[in-house]
Amino acid sequence: MLSKDEIKQLSDEILRLKKEKDALILAHYYQRLEIQQVADIFGDSFELSKKAKLAENRLVVFCGVRFMAESAKILNPDKKVLLPAVDAGCPMADMVTPEDVLELRAKYPEAAVVCYVNSSAETKAVSDICCTSSNAIKVVKSLPNRQIIFVPDKNLGAYVAKFVPEKEFILHSGFCPTHRNITAAEVDKAKAEHPNALFAVHPECEDEVVAKADFVGSTSQIIDYCVNTDAPEFIIGTEVGVVDRLAYYHPEKKYHLLTPYLVCPNMKKTELSDVLAVLRDESNEVIMTQEEIEAAKAPLERMVAIK
Ligand code: 13P
Ligand code: SF4
Repeated sequence: MLSKDEIKQLSDEILRLKKEKDALILAHYYQRLEIQQVADIFGDSFELSKKAKLAENRLVVFCGVRFMAESAKILNPDKKVLLPAVDAGCPMADMVTPEDVLELRAKYPEAAVVCYVNSSAETKAVSDICCTSSNAIKVVKSLPNRQIIFVPDKNLGAYVAKFVPEKEFILHSGFCPTHRNITAAEVDKAKAEHPNALFAVHPECEDEVVAKADFVGSTSQIIDYCVNTDAPEFIIGTEVGVVDRLAYYHPEKKYHLLTPYLVCPNMKKTELSDVLAVLRDESNEVIMTQEEIEAAKAPLERMVAIK
């Protein structure tokens, strides 16, 4: 754990180098608070994709996990994209392969493939359109196909399916280990401890947990809900970074993390010293071939184009 002085020293040096090197720092809401505080832009995965696409700086430093930095590179390939924590992956993204998708396509030739952005560039390349947790319902509704192959998150897929009953969903079996672990009994316990709190949850959680929520949404949508709803207290069913952010920037309300285990170990790999190192050395560049970029571009661009 860094002291306040160490955080200040590292942050000052990052802010200085950021200017000198013409870098834009993007940070996901699951990043440590001190990382969010040196970022130019913070947000959920959809907002960060949109901002990365528009970035004009020479360097883009992506404080998040690999699939997010890859999406930034695919959407803005002329930029040098740096990933401070080089081994920050997403276990859910590794649960589906392009071969899985091709197999499902062969089985359901009429279906459209909707690929959650938490996936590799190779898997995106064999999909029709990407989605995030903030736009998945809109994405699915935009498609003419009656059958939808949804990869890799079975929970997000099942959640979306409820809003589009006219379509048939073929769900892959992937999941987020951090969100999947939450149980309905833990929700009941938190509600009993905080009877006046509203419960907001990420759709990567299991159905029985989502069913108990007052609000379901992406990380940004959860933050907006807590800030804009006229209630003083919330139970948060997503990663601790969201609670850290809310508690710091909106201290007038109370936030309870549903369980102490809501921590994404990969998101927490990024330290201020990593951000400083990649800025200084321009290291950990996301390298993709032109073919890889071209192959994954269309599904991501289609998602970003949806209003
Ligand atoms: P958001 O799309 O809400 O940013 O979520 C990304 C993610 O990885 C959730 O686990
Ligand atoms: Fe992946 Fe889950 Fe971490 Fe999100 S919280 S990056 S889905 S492991």
